[in-house]
Amino acid sequence: MADLSTLLALIFLVCFSHSHSHPSYSDAIRVHNVISYGAKPDGITDSTSAFLNAWGAACASANASTITVPKGTYLLASLAFNADYCKTSHITFCIHGTLVAAPVLPQPTSWLSFHGVTGVSIIGGALDAKGPPLWACKASTTNCPTGATTLSFTNSNNIRIHGLVSINSQMFHIVFNGCQNVHVERVKIIAAGDSPNTDGIHVQLSQDVTIMKSTIKTGDDCISIGPGTKNLWIERVRCGPGHGISIGSLAKDMDEAGVQNVTVKNAVFIGTQNGLRIKSWARPSNGFVKRVRFLGAVMKNVQNPIVIDQSYCPHNINCPTQVSGVKISDVVYWGIRGTSATQIAIKFDCSSKNPCTGIRLGNVNLTSPSQVAQSLCTNAIGKTLGLVQPNSCL
Ligand SMILES: *[C@@H]1O[C@H](CO)[C@@H](O)[C@H](O)[C@H]1NC(C)=O
Ligand SMILES: *[C@@H]1O[C@H](CO)[C@@H](O)[C@H](O)[C@H]1NC(C)=O
Ligand SMILES: *[C@@H]1O[C@H](CO)[C@@H](O)[C@H](O)[C@H]1NC(C)=O
Repeated sequence: MADLSTLLALIFLVCFSHSHSHPSYSDAIRVHNVISYGAKPDGITDSTSAFLNAWGAACASANASTITVPKGTYLLASLAFNADYCKTSHITFCIHGTLVAAPVLPQPTSWLSFHGVTGVSIIGGALDAKGPPLWACKASTTNCPTGATTLSFTNSNNIRIHGLVSINSQMFHIVFNGCQNVHVERVKIIAAGDSPNTDGIHVQLSQDVTIMKSTIKTGDDCISIGPGTKNLWIERVRCGPGHGISIGSLAKDMDEAGVQNVTVKNAVFIGTQNGLRIKSWARPSNGFVKRVRFLGAVMKNVQNPIVIDQSYCPHNINCPTQVSGVKISDVVYWGIRGTSATQIAIKFDCSSKNPCTGIRLGNVNLTSPSQVAQSLCTNAIGKTLGLVQPNSCL
């Protein structure tokens, strides 16, 4: 009999073959088709309890399971998948269809959420959270519901998401909070460039997270990196429209976990507000950012290609005349090229209390089509290596 890793690889291949059949992988893997639990692929029948029952059945056995979602559209209210009574640490959602959010979600923070789970994979599928009516409400009045994150994982380990599409989230698309060992690959995220708070992927209090080969078009941050993120690897992600890849906002709280060892490699930014950003409130905090590697990015018409902003204090509320307590050190920008939509292509606006240290810029070529690009430094200490265009202010 094949070993578990071979079987998991097989599940993966079969999930991606878009076959209609319900393959019997082997005796060792149980297949739970949501249709057998009462789900209806008609887009109008509520399939929430069918999905929960399939999850319950998968959890009841110690063996690896797949939860198969055949082609079609499934209407789902908010769903919380918990690890209570879960005996297995290998559940793969093999999704060929589209899951759509029921029109009125009862104010949950997430539409689809996983709590305390181990070894959950989501392969394929589209999630449509039906965000536009909420965005329209937020654009016209102030007393709208907050909206839900489309998909969230809390305190979970060994999570894999491959080939998922997330459309029109109400708030953030995908959130990892308190997770370890996460792999996200070939994910597509799509929302309007002016949709509010629709961050693509948000990571916080999590370690060993990889996000690669993904495309994120949205209204807020492409990837936002919150306090307590450690060993994050981002590679070949295309962002835009949106606000770019951002470490922060940090210093929201006085007592805050730091961000360390983040690599962003070969990212592409198209028409985004920012490219590679580190951002903190101008407020006291014991947070920090250290060991960040921004390697080989391409910028196309990006407003702020390289930016550290430690003076964030919107509307001067809760922080006027204060400075950021967040200490930023050991940040490398290597091989960053392309165009800036504004004159300031590089901006390091660091804290006067904690200047940025160990900033290194090398092999950077950012031009501005209409004027000579410039760089701006405040309280930033570091050095340049090789060609740096615009001339570095370090
Ligand atoms: C669980 O897996 C074992 C092999 O690892 C297999 O012999 C057994 O039939 C499986 N049980 C079920 C209920 O599928
Ligand atoms: C930094 O994180 C990467 C994964 O993103 C890991 O391979 C590497 O070992 C980490 N380095 C340190 C010094 O922890
Ligand atoms: C920098 O980029 C501009 C525009 O892409 C290009 O014309 C120029 O040759 C580049 N400079 C160097 C030194 O590579």
